[in-house]
Amino acid sequence: MRHLIDPTDLSVEETQQLLELAIDIINNRQKYAHVCDGKKLATLFYEPSTRTRLSFTAAMMELGGNVLGFSDARTSSVSKGETVADTVRVVSSFADIIAMRHFKEGAPNVAAQFSRIPIINAGDGGHSHPTQTLTDLLSIMRELGHLDNLTIGLCGDLKYGRTVHSLIKAMKRYEGTRFVLISPDELRLPDYIKNILPSNFIEVNTLEEVLHMLDVLYMTRVQQERFANQDDYERLKDSFILDAKKMTLAPEHMIVLHPLPRVNEISTDVDSDPRAAYFRQVENGKFVRMALIYTLLQKTEETQPQNKVLSATTHTCTNDRCITRTEPIEKLAYTDTEGIERCAYCDHCLKTN
Ligand code: CP
Repeated sequence: MRHLIDPTDLSVEETQQLLELAIDIINNRQKYAHVCDGKKLATLFYEPSTRTRLSFTAAMMELGGNVLGFSDARTSSVSKGETVADTVRVVSSFADIIAMRHFKEGAPNVAAQFSRIPIINAGDGGHSHPTQTLTDLLSIMRELGHLDNLTIGLCGDLKYGRTVHSLIKAMKRYEGTRFVLISPDELRLPDYIKNILPSNFIEVNTLEEVLHMLDVLYMTRVQQERFANQDDYERLKDSFILDAKKMTLAPEHMIVLHPLPRVNEISTDVDSDPRAAYFRQVENGKFVRMALIYTLLQKTEETQPQNKVLSATTHTCTNDRCITRTEPIEKLAYTDTEGIERCAYCDHCLKTN
């Protein structure tokens, strides 16, 4: 069957088909009102969420299906020590498709190994968030009309911002994409993402110096929950604040996206600017998740494409937040284009034991 663990699990053509399906759903809601009658979505959320979980729920309900699951893992047998592998084996008996959010990076990969039904990664730690990326792509399509030849400014917490990592992986596949990275030095992109950037990216320290050149400004929250040291969070949390005054430096056509929730990185005086697309973006999330659920339920006979050559390894992942550090599973590795051996679950470097 097909899963969605990483945005590149979908080819550019498949991504385009999903976006077109989402637009057809927007224009013909009644046509899709019963296409998932009798089907069940399990939402397994080990980490807090408002938009992702509720939009998955609303999406399945609007397709005619039902939803079960948990929004707090402490109320499930996870609190008794049940592994991700065992949890999805069990839930495979109760549902037809699973959307999983987990604080451990790579947890949805483990789920996909042991599940008998499709797994959708609804966000894993600071690693990846592919359905947010589909939301972002649909938003850009609907707001600007195309996905190629765009200059995208990514601002804020690029180190832990899983939405940024996934958006880069997806957008780098389109002709003429240019990335502008705007972050404090301490919150720069991890190297496994930086290594895949097209060579024309630029990295700056202020929004003011680049706003004039952007088609899309993608703001992100500095993620308090990922910091080991809260003093570092306090020092960095207000690094970038977009306000109405700064918006005067931006082109008329530029759109502002944000995966939300925001804390104070976008001042509320920007909300009434027609270029502020972040609440329209939320609604796109429901439609693209409708398209995704419907599509994956139709692809149960297809084989999951494998983008990387994987091999078993005895080496340990250097990432403390990786699922391999806690879940007793086979460790798998791949070698990246720089010749570095990386964890197949979270993409961090491996260390020799
Ligand atoms: N964008 C996003 O993932 O929001 P939630 O954390 O509220 O799901």
